[in-house]
Amino acid sequence: MAQIIPVPPFDCVVFGATGDLTLRKLMPALYYRFRDRQIPEGARIIAAARSDFTDEAYRNHVAEAARQHVAKSDWDDATAADFLARVSYVQLDGSSPDRWTGLNDLLGQEPDRVRVFYMATSPDLYGPICRNIRANDLASEGSRVVLEKPIGHDLASAKSINDQVGEIFSERQTFRIDHYLGKETVQNLLALRFANSIFERLWNADVIDHVQITVAETVGVESRAGYYDHSGALRDMVQNHLLQLLCMTAMESPISLSADSVRDEKLKVLRALRPIAPHEIGAVTVRGQYTQGAVEGRAVAGYAADLGRQSHTETFVAIKAEVRSWRWGGVPFYLRTGKRLADKLSEVVVVFRKLPFSIFPREVAELSPNKLVMRLQPHEGIHLEMMTKDPGPGGLRLRPARLNISFEEAFKTRYPDSYERLLMDAVRGNTTLFMRRDEVEAAWQWVEPIIEAWGEAPETPKPYPAGSWGPTSAIALIERDGRTWHEDFTQEEEFKR
Ligand code: BG6
Repeated sequence: MAQIIPVPPFDCVVFGATGDLTLRKLMPALYYRFRDRQIPEGARIIAAARSDFTDEAYRNHVAEAARQHVAKSDWDDATAADFLARVSYVQLDGSSPDRWTGLNDLLGQEPDRVRVFYMATSPDLYGPICRNIRANDLASEGSRVVLEKPIGHDLASAKSINDQVGEIFSERQTFRIDHYLGKETVQNLLALRFANSIFERLWNADVIDHVQITVAETVGVESRAGYYDHSGALRDMVQNHLLQLLCMTAMESPISLSADSVRDEKLKVLRALRPIAPHEIGAVTVRGQYTQGAVEGRAVAGYAADLGRQSHTETFVAIKAEVRSWRWGGVPFYLRTGKRLADKLSEVVVVFRKLPFSIFPREVAELSPNKLVMRLQPHEGIHLEMMTKDPGPGGLRLRPARLNISFEEAFKTRYPDSYERLLMDAVRGNTTLFMRRDEVEAAWQWVEPIIEAWGEAPETPKPYPAGSWGPTSAIALIERDGRTWHEDFTQEEEFKR
């Protein structure tokens, strides 16, 4: 097992401590880090929310929720009790100036510690909470603030939130989460590209035909319909997760692994994205909304029924994006994401150019282009699709086969949740895997014209049945260019092996 680097004692204050994110992600992540002895003796987790809880009642609440999100085999009652002893609760509405005494007293006991203020709240509260932190003199040199996405709902609101937070915390102290960057497999894109010599020479428009980035989910909007209906798939997934994946795939080699070197390169990609003009919105973007159908063998309702009313919010997006650079000129990046799709699957597929000429007659082989598939989840791994000789006598027939690395098989280790890595990076003060202000704003700048053009377009999102791969116009989007989505999941079993 990799060596786990300990950190000095710290205080982590979580605003929004009774919310879904805290209970489903943050507390289980902290439990795992504690279990793996990364949370030192004396470290404190201070949960803050408006509800009335005693420490004891809150701990029971956390334990109950965490049990559902920690693997049974990883849950240990004694370890959980030790972990929960570090959690305390303060009743506090962070956006109001009242009732800060409890938090002041607790933090005042350890004035020199690293303090992490985690905003697991709605983004419009980030500014007011930060102002109250300052008014109570709680933001020290060693403090950091962690902001959950979405940072705003458009460029202007993102700028306003960044300005408000920036009055209290410097950029070095600000940790904007895109939890995709905390995924092991996303970080592995850096390793694949910059720790191996074979790919770099192939990583350009001379050899690559196009790139596909898919983040497909089987879940619907569940209990988040209220938030989701104001957001939609473009803001919820494309503006952050898919664009970050695109950056990791397309960026130039950073000069080092320092936070700014990596983020400078990602920023260049975002700024090189070709803006989508209103007149081409129908040609290069598709938005869809799920209707009733069946997912994983279960009948499910459509989005309107989930929401309780009709809506024009998109639950599916496909976009043909282009990066204007010498490396990528003429190479489309097809992005797609959606809820209630046929499978839960995230992958980046690099499709190489076709052979310029084939010596093999058509009867022996329909040559398919080489594909490098980076599977982010589930069954994490990498495979290269290549043509091989079909074994056996009777002439030289060809068929595609896979050169396959399954991480599960190769490393036989648990894949930590991205929040485990990101929380500890925030404590350590390492911003590499967090979005810098200019990145967030550049991403909004590219996305905003799409939102505006959709708002003005007469068409509404195209319906697609739950359990499908999205509206047929998403298939047309890529097939118009003589290409197809990578949907050959018939060999899914190979990923599991
Ligand atoms: C979140 C989105 O950021 O990412 C959700 O708000 C989405 O709508 C989730 O379901 C997907 O994350 P993951 O890690 O399950 O792929």
